[in-house]
Order: sequence, then structure tokens, then C-alpha cells
Amino acid sequence: MLQWMIDKADATKEPASDDELAFVQLQLSMAAIHTTTMTATHILYDLVAHPDVVEDLRAEVRSVLRETGGVVTTHALFQMKLLDSVMRESQRMNPLSMARFTRYVEKPLTLHDGTKIPAGVVIESPHLAVTRDPELYPDPDTFDPYRFYRLRTGEVPDPLGYKSTEQYQFVTVTKENMGFGYGRHACPGRFFAANEIKMILAHMLLRFDMKLPASRAGKRYPNLVVAHSIVPDPKGEILLRRVQS
Ligand code: HEM
Repeated sequence: MLQWMIDKADATKEPASDDELAFVQLQLSMAAIHTTTMTATHILYDLVAHPDVVEDLRAEVRSVLRETGGVVTTHALFQMKLLDSVMRESQRMNPLSMARFTRYVEKPLTLHDGTKIPAGVVIESPHLAVTRDPELYPDPDTFDPYRFYRLRTGEVPDPLGYKSTEQYQFVTVTKENMGFGYGRHACPGRFFAANEIKMILAHMLLRFDMKLPASRAGKRYPNLVVAHSIVPDPKGEILLRRVQS
């Protein structure tokens, strides 16, 4: 995005003012930081509500890091496939918004089926309805940490018939997985975000035992729904105890 700004300034020979540059950089920080923070928080809330998967995750992180002598490489993060599955399942159940492709229509449009969209309106497409569709995701209201791991490793047949099981990665965008958007405006920061979140989670898993307070009785913190945003409750509490890793 910074490159787009540089290219635009070069093309128009009109360098942006300091105020414009600061504004765009703040917008970019907003797009990058709150999304990553909320996604990581959603995942942590899911993990403490589903502690059964924790030992498998620790075993995976340890085994991958053993191979690299403890160095966290991009390939090592790619190999953390169960962790990736947990992240994608959490994002499937708790997308940051119920809708996608929110767009302002500048010029009237006619779609190929004849639907006319006038100028001046805002359009969007459903997202939560897709990620909870039982035809795409069996038992869609159940958090299944192994769902995408099984699909990615070929343990279960791919119901959607994709050519590559790699389409079940956290970062892969498809019509059934628009957590990062779709098409030419799909999130360019998703690879960075995925690595960042994986490192946060791997660190937390190896360093801490995490649990919900007894008063929650194992129940995940409910999300806050603000318009069509799905926000993790910022007041949720996770109890941490340092462990020897
Ligand atoms: C888990 C974290 C993230 C999530 C869930 C997320 C989600 C999204 C989504 C859904 C879109 C598409 C919006 C649309 O089509 O209207 C998008 C676009 C974008 N994201 Fe992310 N994002 C994340 C992290 C990041 C990071 C870390 C960066 C930058 C370092 C970033 C930069 C951008 C930019 C620049 C766009 C606009 C792309 C364009 O319009 O062509 N995002 N993001």
C-alpha cells in the first residue's frame, strides 16, 4: 500500500502532503493492527474453551521447532498445520464481520443475470451465512480444531473437490473462505498476519498453561456484535500459569 502511494505520487507528480501521508499510514495501521489483535483474541478464547487440543498443538510446535533447531522460519510456521487449522476454524466461526465486499457504487451496474444496481448505493455480500452453511461446513456451529487439518492432510475427502488441499490453509481465499476477502482486493497483509499470529500462539502455548476462570465453567466468552462487526469481548479474562517448556 505504501508502494501504491509512492507510485501515485510519481505518476501524478503531486507528492502527498504530510497530513495525507500520516492519514493513510494511520488507516493502514488500523487495517493491520485491530484485525490481527481481534483475530488472535478470538483464537485464544477458543483455545481456552477447547483445552483438549492444547497438548497436540504443543507437540506440533515442539516437533517443528526441533527440526529447525529452535529457529522460527517461514517454513517452520507453514509446517504448524494443526495450529493453522485452529486459526482458520476460529476465523470461520468468528469472522470480524458478518458481511464482505462492502462497496459504494459510483456508476450504475448491470450484472450478468440482469440485476440492476443504481449509483449511490452501498452493496455487500453475506459472509457469516457462508461460513456457517452446513452444506459447506458439516456441523457448522461446532468448533472443530481438527476440521481443516483433516482436509489439508487428506484424512477426509474434500467435499468441495478442490484440486489442492492447500486451499484449506488459513491464508487461502476462496468463495467459501472470505475471511480475508476475495479477488483483487483480498487482504495483502494476510501472510504477515498469519505468521505473526502463529508466533504469538506458539509462544503462549509453550510458555503458559491457559485457562478460563472457574466461574465461566468452560464456556467461551460470547462475542459482542456491533452492527455487523463480531468483536471478542475485551473484558474476557484468561488465567496464565508459566510452564517449563
Ligand atoms: C488477521 C488479520 C487481518 C484480517 C482478518 C484482515 C482482513 C481483511 C479483509 C477482509 C480485507 C478485504 C476488505 C474488502 O474487500 O473490503 C482486507 C484488506 C486489506 N488489508 Fe487486511 N486483514 C488482516 C491483516 C492485515 C495486515 C497485517 C495488513 C497490513 C500489514 C493488512 C492490510 C490490508 C490492506 C492494505 C487491505 C486493502 C487491500 C485492497 O483494497 O486491495 N491487513 N483485510
